[in-house]
Amino acid sequence: MTIYSETPIYDTLKDYLSKDPVRMHVPFHNGIPNNNIFPKELYNLDISEVSGYDIEGEDNPIFQSEKITADCFDVEHSFYLTGGASIGLAAGLIALNKHGKKVILARNVHKSVINGVILSGLEPIWLDVDFLSEWEIFSKINLAKLEELISASNDIAGCVIVSPTYEGVISDIKEVSNICHKKNIPLIVDEAHGGHLYFLELNEHDSMSFPGLTRESSFKNDNGNCLDSRFRGNDKMLQTSALRLGADLVIQSWHKSLGSFTQSGVLHLVNEQFFTYKDIKRSLDLISSTSPSFLLLLSLELTRKHLAVQAGFKPASTNIFNSLLTIAESLKKEMREIKNLEIFNSDDPFKIYLKSKNISGLDFAFELYKKYAIEIESANDTGLLMLIGQGFNNEIKNRIIKAIKEIIIRSRDVARNVSTAKSKPQINKFKSDPRRAFIQGFQNKTNCKYHSEITAPCPPGYAINVPGMNYESCD
Ligand SMILES: Cc1ncc(COP(=O)(O)O)c(C=O)c1O
Repeated sequence: MTIYSETPIYDTLKDYLSKDPVRMHVPFHNGIPNNNIFPKELYNLDISEVSGYDIEGEDNPIFQSEKITADCFDVEHSFYLTGGASIGLAAGLIALNKHGKKVILARNVHKSVINGVILSGLEPIWLDVDFLSEWEIFSKINLAKLEELISASNDIAGCVIVSPTYEGVISDIKEVSNICHKKNIPLIVDEAHGGHLYFLELNEHDSMSFPGLTRESSFKNDNGNCLDSRFRGNDKMLQTSALRLGADLVIQSWHKSLGSFTQSGVLHLVNEQFFTYKDIKRSLDLISSTSPSFLLLLSLELTRKHLAVQAGFKPASTNIFNSLLTIAESLKKEMREIKNLEIFNSDDPFKIYLKSKNISGLDFAFELYKKYAIEIESANDTGLLMLIGQGFNNEIKNRIIKAIKEIIIRSRDVARNVSTAKSKPQINKFKSDPRRAFIQGFQNKTNCKYHSEITAPCPPGYAINVPGMNYESCD
C-alpha cells in the first residue's frame, strides 16, 4: 500500500549528503554559498542527478515520488513540472498532435496554451466564453456553444479550457467532458489556479452552481484509502476539481494554489484513454530543461507530503483548509456589509474579486499599497483581486477591512473617470495559422496583414492578439 507521506527524492538526497561526498560534478557551487543571503542548507539541497538519482525506469526516485503523488490524487501519473504550469500546458498541446489537426481553445486560455499551439502547429478553433462586462472578467464555458463547435468541425484533436479562472469562476467540467467524450475528443483542463479544489468541501453556494452533482457521485476512489475519510458522513459535499469530473489531462500550478515554490507545478495524466505515460513524457522532454531544479522537485514532493499529513488524508475536521475557509468566509461577510463595495460571487473561496463605484480597481490597489502596505494580487479598471493564502489570519483580516472602509469613505466624493461596463475582448478572423505567422515575425514584414506576436498581458494572461489573427482594420 502506498504511504502518501513518503519522500523518495528527499530520502535519496539525505543519503547522498550523509556520505559527505567529494563533489566533482555540477552544480559548480558544490554546496558552498557564494553570498550571505541564501542559507547554506539551500545550496546543499540544490543538487543534480547524483548517485541515487541516476537509476533508470520505475526505481528512479523522481518517478517514485511522482507515482505516490499520482496515487494521492487517484490518477494514472503525476508529472512534476519545474517550468510551471506553462510547460505542462504547452506539452499537453504537443501531445494532442496524436489525435488530429485542430484544437478547441476556450477564448480565455492562458498565453502558454497559445505557445503550445505555435510549437505544435495545431489550428485553433475558438470557443466563446461568457463575459461579465460589469466585472470585466470571463465567466463559464458556454456548453451550447461547445456542442455547436464540435458538431461543425471534424479532425478535432482536443479541447482546452480554464477552470477555475483567475478570478475563481468554475465551469461545469462534468458536462464539458461529457460533450467532448461523446465525440472521442480529449479534454485538457488548465487548473493552474485550482490545485486546492481537490481538498475543499464546498458550501451551498457551490451546490447551487452545480445542480445534481454530489461529492459521492463524483468521487471514484472507494478502496478505503485516506481520501475517503475526508467526506465520510457528509454526502452533500461537491467536487469541483477537474481531476474527478472527467478531464483527461489536468495541469496545476502548485505555487499558485498549494504552497510550493514559484515555478513548480504538476501535470496529472488522469487516465490513459487518450494519452499514454510515454506520450506526455516525450512531449514534456521536448521543451523542458535537462537539468530540473531539485529545489523545485523537493518543494513539490514536500508539499504533497504536507497535504498528505495535514490536509487530505485525515478526517475533515482536521483538514488544514477548514480554518482558512472559515476566516475567508468571515472576511467576505464583513466586506459585504461595507457600503459601496461589491464582492464578486466567486466559486473559489480563496479568491476575492471586488469593486466599488467610488474608485477604480487600479486606484484602489494603489491606495491599499501606498497607505496601508497591502499588496493585492492584481487590479484592472473595474476591480481588484485578492488571494487568501496560507498565511492569512484575523489580524490581516482586520487590517484589510479597516483599509477598505477608509479608502471608500475618502473616495466617495471623487468622480470616477472610468466607464464601468467593458466590452468583451474579441478574436478577429485568422489570415494565417499561428505557427506560420509567428515564424514570419522574424522576417519583419511591414506589409503583413496579421499579427505575428502574442499579446497577452499577465495577469490574467489571456490573449488580446494571437499570431495569424487579422489586424483589426483588415478583413
Ligand atoms: C490560467 C493560467 N494558466 C496557466 C498559468 C501558468 O502558470 P505558471 O505560472 O505556473 O507557469 C497561469 C499563470 O498566470 C494562469 O493564470
